[in-house]
Amino acid sequence: LGTVGAAGAAGVALGATGGALVHAAVESDGSGGPELSSVGATEVPFHVKHQAGISTPLQACGHLIAFDLAPGAGRKEAAALLRRWSATAKALMAGEPTGADTGVALDAGPSSLTVTFGFGRTFFDRTGLAAQRPVELDPLPDFSSDRLDPKRSNGDLWVQIGADDALVAFHALRALQKDAGAAARVRWQMNGFNRTPGATKKPMTARNLMGQIDGTGNPKPADRDFEQRIFVPDSGKPAWMANGSYAVVRRIRMLLDDWEKVPLAQQEQVIGRKKANGAPLSGGTETTEMQLDKFGPDGKLVIPDNAHARISAPEQNGGAAMLRRAFSYHDGISADGVPDAGLLFVAWQADPMRGFVPVQRKLDRGDALSAFIRHESSGLFAVPGGPRAGEYVGQLLLE
Ligand code: HEM
Repeated sequence: LGTVGAAGAAGVALGATGGALVHAAVESDGSGGPELSSVGATEVPFHVKHQAGISTPLQACGHLIAFDLAPGAGRKEAAALLRRWSATAKALMAGEPTGADTGVALDAGPSSLTVTFGFGRTFFDRTGLAAQRPVELDPLPDFSSDRLDPKRSNGDLWVQIGADDALVAFHALRALQKDAGAAARVRWQMNGFNRTPGATKKPMTARNLMGQIDGTGNPKPADRDFEQRIFVPDSGKPAWMANGSYAVVRRIRMLLDDWEKVPLAQQEQVIGRKKANGAPLSGGTETTEMQLDKFGPDGKLVIPDNAHARISAPEQNGGAAMLRRAFSYHDGISADGVPDAGLLFVAWQADPMRGFVPVQRKLDRGDALSAFIRHESSGLFAVPGGPRAGEYVGQLLLE
């Protein structure tokens, strides 16, 4: 294995549109020592068409935080907050310190830090902006298998932080929390992780905590319809959401004690793909298309009727597709003695009704994976396009 250094490798399946990664010109510290390795030096631009952190390669560490505006805070306070947050995100993503810096990220480069901001449904009532609320933020339907904790769901504002270094990510988290000041309070916060770039011999699609290669079927930036599926068009409505996207966030607990008892062959039937290399059970390699109509010698479908990858495939859902860009989480052992671990599932799409909702409706009827997972919290956020030079995120909505 090479050293940790293949920048962005873990997220290769996502490509790097929406802001090509650049290697920061990291100043030498004058000691004549070696330059930062590529992991630390990789910088994701802040001013881009689509906010960073959507089609940016997956990072090794992530924090998801939702805030509620403080009582009495309205549009003016929200605008000032988004201005502060944008200035902080821009500086930190460039590897620069902030005003009252804690020093936690000293010595490290930008490390692919991204900060992505979104607005929840309730934000628009609190700020008197209900007329600007997109219909796409209508509440998600109730799903029969949901076991949602309202305290860890939704929120006026949402921030996603990703970085390839845990201290860089934590540093950004603290800075943004402090920026909130008296204007907003943390509603919930979740911490996640992915594989470290360079941990595998070659760049690979991520694995989740069930051990599966996860992300194979994602729309690819090179696809003809990628932009159309994931982002609101330039001419889209409302105008402030041009080039934005909608994030569906679900904390999905994995019932790992149950899952790990299932023999490998059966685990593979649950998904419809091989665990070792992610290849469909109908044959080929990870990138070979699934043959959903292939029967085995026993007369049964090779990819079972209720396999997760079959039920969620776009061709089974009128073309519904989303970009799944998840972090794993592990919060120790819960009160009932089982791991509190799973997926911080973040799905990006131009319209949740043509992405997450129809697919989850079908999965909710009981795909083979349902017995091993539990949706414990949920959020839906409108994530505006990337700010132009001199602008802050959400300026078109708030000014
Ligand atoms: C595919 C795991 C939840 C939508 C897959 C695959 C795995 C997987 C291993 C096959 C590889 C791939 O194409 O990425 C999981 C796990 C989940 C989960 C462990 C929960 C803990 C969900 C949810 C949705 C979803 C909630 C959406 C409502 C999809 C889609 C595909 C997929 C769209 C790709 C299908 C295709 O294009 O062939 N998932 N998934 N998954 N999953 Fe999930």
